[in-house]
Amino acid sequence: MPTLALINQKGGVGKTTVTLGLASIAQSRGNACCVIDIDPQANATSGLGVWEPKMTIDRLLSEDHVGSAATAMTPSLWPNDSGPVPMVLASRGELAAIEQQLLVDPVGGQDRLARVLQGIAPSIRFIDCPPSLGLLSVNALFAADRVAVVTEPSAWATDAVAQILSTVARINERRSVPLEMSGIVVNRLGRTRDARYWHEHLVEAYPTLCLPPIHLRAAVAEASAQSLPLMALGARPGTSEAVDEFSVVYDKLVSARAEDQQESRHEL
Ligand SMILES: Nc1ncnc2c1ncn2[C@@H]1O[C@H](COP(=O)(O)OP(=O)(O)O)[C@@H](O)[C@H]1O
Ligand SMILES: [Mg+2]
Repeated sequence: MPTLALINQKGGVGKTTVTLGLASIAQSRGNACCVIDIDPQANATSGLGVWEPKMTIDRLLSEDHVGSAATAMTPSLWPNDSGPVPMVLASRGELAAIEQQLLVDPVGGQDRLARVLQGIAPSIRFIDCPPSLGLLSVNALFAADRVAVVTEPSAWATDAVAQILSTVARINERRSVPLEMSGIVVNRLGRTRDARYWHEHLVEAYPTLCLPPIHLRAAVAEASAQSLPLMALGARPGTSEAVDEFSVVYDKLVSARAEDQQESRHEL
């Protein structure tokens, strides 16, 4: 079962939205998944309708007990009559202070998340990262086995992606099994000439890593704001198109084929 980190050092590009979109697809397909929210802003936690978590990730990282996440997950309040809802390793603002604590740990600052996740029940795992390449994101990269970059099609996006790829390469020098770079999710693609231009720029720079894009649509933002899975918006215009786009990205990221991965490696 994959553990996928969704990363970008920039805020507002859609890491949380894409995490929630992928969790929506997992739920609609009856696949068990869990969302690990390692952003102190806790947007994935609230997007999954978790308001009173029984345990939060800052405490787990601070206590540093191997496998402690196994009993710390809270079920999402997303409606679902026919299968499992996503489980959530919830975040809260206090997580910001933990980064300082990790910085002064001489041995375990990088892999505490990997340690607390050890031995948890098998399911697809999505890790929603904070908007920085600091120690919380580094912990996500040590806990994951694959990573996807989420970006907007905007100026400097290509530079930001290059910086993440170089961070991943440095992490891989320290891992026994390298992280797979599963792809670049170009999100919030609008219909302006500017958006098209920067999208083409990204695709030119990373032709095999760039996945089919996700367009800017009010329905996508509404689902997160209402703490609902995408499909629950039903007849809202744009919902079924958004579901189709997230489905394609889900297939590429969660069930990516070995030969695709092989091809993408050439761009690293
Ligand atoms: N495809 C999309 N269509 C419409 N709005 C989007 C889309 N992706 C993200 N947004 C909106 O953009 C804002 C930033 O997205 P978010 O997922 O919180 O970014 P990040 O997690 O990278 O900081 C949110 O208000 C979100 O609802
Ligand atoms: Mg976010």
